[in-house]
Amino acid sequence: MRQIHIREVGPRDGLQNARQRMPSDAKKAWVRAIAEAGVPEIEVGSFVPPKLIPAMADTADIVSYALALKDLQVVVLAPNLKGFERALAAGAHKVTFPVSASRQHSESNVRMTPDQMVEEVRKCAQRPHPGVLVEGAVSTAFGCTLQGNVPEDDVVRIAAALAEFCDHVSLADTVGYANPAQIKRVFKKVGKVIGSKLRTAHLHNTRGLGLANALAAYEEGVRHFDSSMGGLGGCPFAPGASGNVITEDLVFMFESMGISTGIDLERLMEARKLMVAAIPDEPVYGHMALAGVPKGFRAAA
Ligand code: COA
Ligand code: ZN
Repeated sequence: MRQIHIREVGPRDGLQNARQRMPSDAKKAWVRAIAEAGVPEIEVGSFVPPKLIPAMADTADIVSYALALKDLQVVVLAPNLKGFERALAAGAHKVTFPVSASRQHSESNVRMTPDQMVEEVRKCAQRPHPGVLVEGAVSTAFGCTLQGNVPEDDVVRIAAALAEFCDHVSLADTVGYANPAQIKRVFKKVGKVIGSKLRTAHLHNTRGLGLANALAAYEEGVRHFDSSMGGLGGCPFAPGASGNVITEDLVFMFESMGISTGIDLERLMEARKLMVAAIPDEPVYGHMALAGVPKGFRAAA
């Protein structure tokens, strides 16, 4: 029984920020290997203007490929109605929208204020979208490299607005500013207002606190996590952003604690090899890959 639900975001958060382009065929093989390792959900790309992020130009093709994989929830990011329509046409199971709590990051990322972006997501959610889940992702929820401090009240207000019409809300530490105490405090505050609509912790490892923050979120009751294989990742429109919490290490942490992710660590490491071979010049991270799985390691039952 899976106790923790991990969503791999490398093909989106990772590749959008990579210097090297991964060819579509390699992306497909990688996505398949991730799914076959037991990862239940993958954010496979984004529907943004291809001119803006050329690495995401093949997202419809990747979605169509991923839809044929067994037991996989296929997620894409969209920044506006046009992106949402492209996501629906492609057949994605879930669409996630980045709604920055920082005005400066929001304007840099989507050229809308946070309130304008909330209205854009509302417009999308009001369109018929049978069977497709809509997720509001509150970005820069723990601080912003452009604006600095992000008031917790702003995070609560935006999360509450999104919860009115989104199926799920996630909190994202886009630039890796969060610490474990802050993670607990903000998840608790938001949870008090929107209850079980608050779902996912999207954490970046920019300052080395990714796993500590994930554990803090777990202790606060969070059971859904975003992570990126090899610690790829980062928002091109948030200066200084770097990789997500590393999937392999996150799986190892939970599994060695006896908390099941449903993911086979050995097969995950095989998927990582495909990724590294496809973008060999890209810096990748991960303690599991460096040090190996400990002798006698036993996955959670
Ligand atoms: N997919 C494809 N094309 C799109 C699009 C989408 N989702 N949204 C807009 N476009 C096209 C428009 O049709 C227009 O094309 P044209 O020049 O041929 O007429 C052009 O892009 C500009 O459209 P506009 O609505 O003026 O967008 P903008 O330039 O103000 O940019 C966003 C706004 C939201 C589209 C852009 O800032 C964006 O995609 N941001 C997301 C960035 C991102 O992925 N960040 C990382 C993830 S958090
Ligand atoms: Zn991110």
